[in-house]
Amino acid sequence: MKLVRLIANLGYGSRKEVAQLFRAGLITDRSGEVLYADDQVAHGDILLDGAPLDPPAGMVLMLHKPLGVTCSRKDAGRLVYDLLPPRYAVRTPALSTVGRLDRDTSGLLLLTDDGALLHRIISPRAQIAKVYEASLAQDLRGDEAALFASGSLMLDSEKEPLAPAQLDVLGPRQARLSIAEGRYHQVRRMFAAVGNHVEALHRVAIGGLRLEGLAPGQWCALDADDIARVFNAG
Ligand code: URA
Repeated sequence: MKLVRLIANLGYGSRKEVAQLFRAGLITDRSGEVLYADDQVAHGDILLDGAPLDPPAGMVLMLHKPLGVTCSRKDAGRLVYDLLPPRYAVRTPALSTVGRLDRDTSGLLLLTDDGALLHRIISPRAQIAKVYEASLAQDLRGDEAALFASGSLMLDSEKEPLAPAQLDVLGPRQARLSIAEGRYHQVRRMFAAVGNHVEALHRVAIGGLRLEGLAPGQWCALDADDIARVFNAG
């Protein structure tokens, strides 16, 4: 791919604007040599105004989604994309959230521009555990773990029962729930089905990838080992 298109696709500007960056000598290699639009250079060797380029297509980000932001491209309030550099919202191919977390759910959210990878992670057939910690309004009754594991729990307005899910009791009103599906408001609806109410919900892991070392609102790019962890149960 021509360098102008490659850099424009990363969201640094239109092709015309990127061509202007070349003319201004702002695109160099690591030794400081000015690059030209027709040069053949490895992505990792290109600097823009002295800084390495963002990762190429195939990028995967892990974000600690804070409360109060929406997993949507257009919404009246704050969006997860507002937490990233503005150019990330205009990359080609587009960066999408891997599934969604509700506005009032915090925790591990993946974003990627790799559609095939996204579907491999969210497909119920892939059986990748999404692990949540929930604070509840009422004490647990004691029968929830068996019901959630049974594979027979039917939520309102659903046609199929839920696949078995694992509940670990962490305290009278605290639980960890691991689900392999991603139905609408699934965790909140599961606890509602047993007469409870989720007061706070936080996703701690997807597969074997845990949310560690990121404060709310912080994010990082994942490498191949991190991505492999998603597919290997922790
Ligand atoms: N289940 C929910 O109810 N909400 C989320 O954000 C994720 C799973």
